[in-house]
Amino acid sequence: MNAEVPHVTLRRYNRDEFDILRPTLSELYAEVYADRLSDPFFSMERFQERLEGHISRPGWEAVVGYDGSEPIGYAYGSPLPERTRWWAGMLTPLPEEETDETGGRRTLALFELMVRAPWRKTGSAQRIHEELLAGRSEERVTLLVEPTHPKVQKLYENWGYENVGDQRPFPDAPVYATMLRRLTGDSPRP
Ligand SMILES: CC(C)(COP(=O)(O)OP(=O)(O)OC[C@H]1O[C@@H](n2cnc3c(N)ncnc32)[C@H](O)[C@@H]1OP(=O)(O)O)[C@@H](O)C(=O)NCCC(=O)NCCS
Repeated sequence: MNAEVPHVTLRRYNRDEFDILRPTLSELYAEVYADRLSDPFFSMERFQERLEGHISRPGWEAVVGYDGSEPIGYAYGSPLPERTRWWAGMLTPLPEEETDETGGRRTLALFELMVRAPWRKTGSAQRIHEELLAGRSEERVTLLVEPTHPKVQKLYENWGYENVGDQRPFPDAPVYATMLRRLTGDSPRP
C-alpha cells in the first residue's frame, strides 16, 4: 500500500440514479481498459450493451469512490435471476445445489470492479468492493476473473473468494475463473 493513502469517499447508487452515473461508468471503463478497446469483446460498444443489460436487472447497485470530486473507481452488481445463464457457461458443471438460483437473496453477481491506475494499491478497490457488499442481503457473491490475471485472482482470494471453476460466458469472451464468496457478515478488513 502507498505511504500516502488518498482520502476516498464512497457513494452508493441505485437504478433510479443511473442516468447521472452512466457517463462516469463509461469514462472510467474507457480509461482502465484503454489498451483493450480494439478487442471486440472489450469495446466501448459491447461495454455499453452489457451495462444496459445489467442495469435492467432489479436490485442493481453501484458504489463509486471519489477523491474530492474526482471519480476514481467503482463496483456494481445485481442479484442473479432465477433463470440465470451465469452458471450455464461452466466448462466443468457444478453440482445443482451450487447453481440453483432463487431470484431472491441467493447470489449477487459483481459485474464490474475497476480503479484508475493512480489509486491502485491504496486499499481503495477493496473499500469500494466491501462497501457494495455491506449493503447487500444476498447469501453469496460471484464474479469472473481472467485466469491469465493470477495476481487479480489471488487478490480476490485474499478478499475471501474461492475459485469454483472456469467458464466462457459468451462465445467471443475469454475463459474466466468463476469466483464465489459466502457473505457471512465477517469481511476481511480493508
Ligand atoms: C482489480 C483492481 C480493482 C485491484 O486494485 P487494487 O486492490 O488496488 O490492486 P492492484 O491494482 O495492486 O492489483 C493487484 C495485482 O494484480 C495486478 N493486476 C491488476 N489488474 C490487472 C490486469 N487487468 N491484468 C493483469 N494484472 C493485473 C496488479 O499489477 C497487482 O500485481 P502487483 O502487486 O504485482 O503489481 C485494479 O487492479 C484494476 O482496476 N484493474 C484493472 C481492471 C480489472 O482488471 N478489473 C478486474 C476485473 S475481474
